[in-house]
Amino acid sequence: METGKVDVLLGLQWGDEGKGKIVDVLTPRYDVVARFQGGPNAGHTLEFEGQKYVLRSIPSGIFQGGKVNIIGNGVVLAPDLFMSEAKDLAASGHPLAERLYISKKAHLIMPTHRILDKANEAAKGKEMVGTTGKGIGPTYTDKTSRHGLRVGDILENFDEKYAKHKARHLNMLKALGWTDFEGFEETEKVWMEGVEYMKQFRFVDSEHEINNTLRKDKSILCEGAQGTMLDVDFGSYPFVTSSNTISAGACTGLGIGPNKIGNVFGIMKAYCTRVGSGPFPTELFDETGTLLRDLGHEYGAVTGRERRCGWIDLVQLRYSIMVNGVTELIMMKSDVLDTFKTIKACVAYELPNGETTTELPYDITDVKPVYKELKGWQTDMTQFTSEAQFPAEFKEYVKFLEDFLETRISVISIGPDRAQTIIR
Ligand code: GDP
Ligand code: IMO
Ligand code: MG
Repeated sequence: METGKVDVLLGLQWGDEGKGKIVDVLTPRYDVVARFQGGPNAGHTLEFEGQKYVLRSIPSGIFQGGKVNIIGNGVVLAPDLFMSEAKDLAASGHPLAERLYISKKAHLIMPTHRILDKANEAAKGKEMVGTTGKGIGPTYTDKTSRHGLRVGDILENFDEKYAKHKARHLNMLKALGWTDFEGFEETEKVWMEGVEYMKQFRFVDSEHEINNTLRKDKSILCEGAQGTMLDVDFGSYPFVTSSNTISAGACTGLGIGPNKIGNVFGIMKAYCTRVGSGPFPTELFDETGTLLRDLGHEYGAVTGRERRCGWIDLVQLRYSIMVNGVTELIMMKSDVLDTFKTIKACVAYELPNGETTTELPYDITDVKPVYKELKGWQTDMTQFTSEAQFPAEFKEYVKFLEDFLETRISVISIGPDRAQTIIR
């Protein structure tokens, strides 16, 4: 973590690994924290001093020592949701206007994008992605099809531009046969208030901001949203989000040269979860899955949906480590396994043709996980304060993961609170 360098922190599974908590823990080591992709589909939870916060569009570095936080060009931003998030933070004693900068190149999620999200999902029927309904897909689609509305547009002839984009969206909705516009006028009114509210923040050319920061020998932590298996290129397509969640996304989402990237912190749970549709090889449908959900409180931070739960998948994790160039692993929610007698880890897939592989294949729909069983530690670790207290079985679990994944686990999380973190 040298100065003048950029480190990237991101999820290695299907999201909700605990990125928010660790960004908050690591923030004191950096000068700037920046989000590079995703939008209010993210829900990053932080807990400290008896308080709990869920951040969606605002970076998780805002609670530690007045650091500058940046919403980068790769992010998609909904003004109404941003306003409510920022107002809640201000009300709880965390005003942001002085230290939160927003890229002029970030794209705006319009109210009609959210309706298009719903309409697209409805049209997909059984094949629906199970999106968060925040308009993420339609906004990124407009960005790549060169129809997008950006934060920088707020500064000039905004109403005119907005009306043009809205009209185009209404035509698209008509073509989809969509007729449900309940509450639209009210939503649009609040959205416009959100646009006004945003004007108290600094709209910046974040690529200049970031690179000038580096030139001053200062350091930046890039905060990923979602997870590698939701990456639009490398995830379980088409059941993915619409952005590049991998480390390369930090380069395009902030304007950083790849040679500036230092560490890539890969966040993973000690087991695995997924929310929404799509394949999940180690998913458990039995009482063990229910137990993981109950012990881990596995309910979505944004939608409240039940998260699907299963064992850790090392084939999948090896792939994620590869495509991200992960330099250090951070293991979350180890405490959730505290009571288990036996713990399983998927070490290979059996393919439909009977062959086994340890390389993630093109299609993971019908693969069967091959498990290694490990002895549980059956010890409450939630109050531990140092590595020396870890039971032998837990140490063995960690060693096994490190050997298999060929990457060091440098931080172990044993509870949701900021303090429940063991740096090794
Ligand atoms: P993110 O989207 O990656 O930031 O993760 P989420 O906030 O969506 O989900 C992680 C959940 O696990 C949150 O409710 C956290 O408070 C909680 N959490 C984080 N680390 C730990 C941990 O080590 N143990 C337990 N039991 N909960 C944790
Ligand atoms: P964080 O940052 C978990 C999932 C949705 C859906 C798919 C596409 O909190 O880890 P979208 O609304 O992006 O078009 O939905 O991606 N998804 C997430 N799952 N954590 C997230 O974010 C997610 N963001 C999107 O459930 O399956
Ligand atoms: Mg989350």
